[in-house]
Amino acid sequence: MANLLITGGAGYIGSHACLTLLQQGHTLVVVDDFSNGSVDALRAVASLAGLQSEPRHGLVGGSNRCWRWRETTNRRTRLSLIEGDIRRAHDLQVAFEALDDAPIDAVLHFAGLKAVAESVAKPLDYWDVNVGGSRQLFDVMAENHCRTVVFSSSATVYGMAKQVPIDEAQPIRPINPYGQTKAAVEQMLQDLAASAGPHEPGWRIACLRYFNPVGAHESGMIGEDPDGIPTNLLPLICQVASGQLQQLQIYGSDWPTADGTGVRDYIHVMDLAEGHSAALRTLLSEGPQVLTLNLGSGQGHSVLQMVQAFERTNGVQIPYAVCGRRPGDSAVSVADPSGAQQRLGWSTRRDLATICRDAWRWQQQNPLGYGT
Ligand code: NAD
Ligand code: WQD
Repeated sequence: MANLLITGGAGYIGSHACLTLLQQGHTLVVVDDFSNGSVDALRAVASLAGLQSEPRHGLVGGSNRCWRWRETTNRRTRLSLIEGDIRRAHDLQVAFEALDDAPIDAVLHFAGLKAVAESVAKPLDYWDVNVGGSRQLFDVMAENHCRTVVFSSSATVYGMAKQVPIDEAQPIRPINPYGQTKAAVEQMLQDLAASAGPHEPGWRIACLRYFNPVGAHESGMIGEDPDGIPTNLLPLICQVASGQLQQLQIYGSDWPTADGTGVRDYIHVMDLAEGHSAALRTLLSEGPQVLTLNLGSGQGHSVLQMVQAFERTNGVQIPYAVCGRRPGDSAVSVADPSGAQQRLGWSTRRDLATICRDAWRWQQQNPLGYGT
């Protein structure tokens, strides 16, 4: 079992990964600035993992708020949450020291900004948090002799891919600042791996390029909690189904696809979480390397197929209207996931009906997200 630092673990994908990793017996330290994450997400994760809140919440490192959860049987601390910003070396160092004398074996790096349109409007914020924050993290990792990292990259690095399904050998051609920052961090990690001298311990790195993460844990206790009106398809469908929004706008029915609507590779967030634990297991059991892998299902579904699957699975109506194409969209984005299958022994297990059922359960149980 390993001691893991999880950046951005109070967010959507990070919280689901925390649950999987806790259930596998790992000990976690989460650092998150709560800019888009919630303590409630980790309260729910701790509860699902059978952990008990510790009375010794408070400040660590002089000024960082901290929450802890422990095993009920042996009282061992298994989950620590530290409020901190990955751009601040102090906050990261506090996280590295959170387990007293025990070193951190590996980092899963989810923290970052992720909204494409916002990245066009505020590119410096994206370079600052995503690239500057990652640089700071890798620096503090090296100082603490931790050289194993799983990085949240994105299929967005492929831009408008020429060939579908998309394999990892396709060129990196991001078309927006968000994608540029993900490509830059991948390059930074390649450079770091190449920097290790013959007598130094090498870096063990996984860059995981997620396709379209969707859904929620089957309990309905953790899920995606968008800030304001969502921009992604499935959270929008959920809000239309619940009556919070009147209808779905479908961005174009004239794409070169079977029914004219955009096709994507939707991956259940728990499959994604399991992909991270598989990548971690591979890195910890093999030598220094850079693994760059797609995480997707290999199946494409159109917007209309998503609407129909949601209606069929959940017995609800999704009123929609077709409008013009959204700038920056492509017709089809589907992964070739065979690399992850070969290198990690991982592939998706949950189908579209499971995705729709779990997303709707989360929405119904938490219509306004966390803390309500
Ligand atoms: P999210 O916003 O729910 O989670 C990110 C977490 O990072 C949040 O809890 C936020 O508070 C935290 N954070 C942001 N800036 C921080 C900082 N400076 N210091 C510390 N914490 C900070 O996003 P998510 O959907 O869970 O995405 C996780 C990662 O996966 C991101 O890096 C994202 O770019 C990447 N990714 C997401 C998707 C997607 O569609 N959700 C697809 C591909 C890749
Ligand atoms: C899916 C499909 C839309 C909304 C984005 C980011 C990407 C990644 C995941 C992080 C498309 C259509 C959508 C709506 C619609 N994130 N749609 N009406 O654009 O594939 O990927 O999120 O790395 O970087 O770009 O996902 O969910 O927004 O769209 O018709 O109101 O649904 O046109 O075909 P996308 P999405």
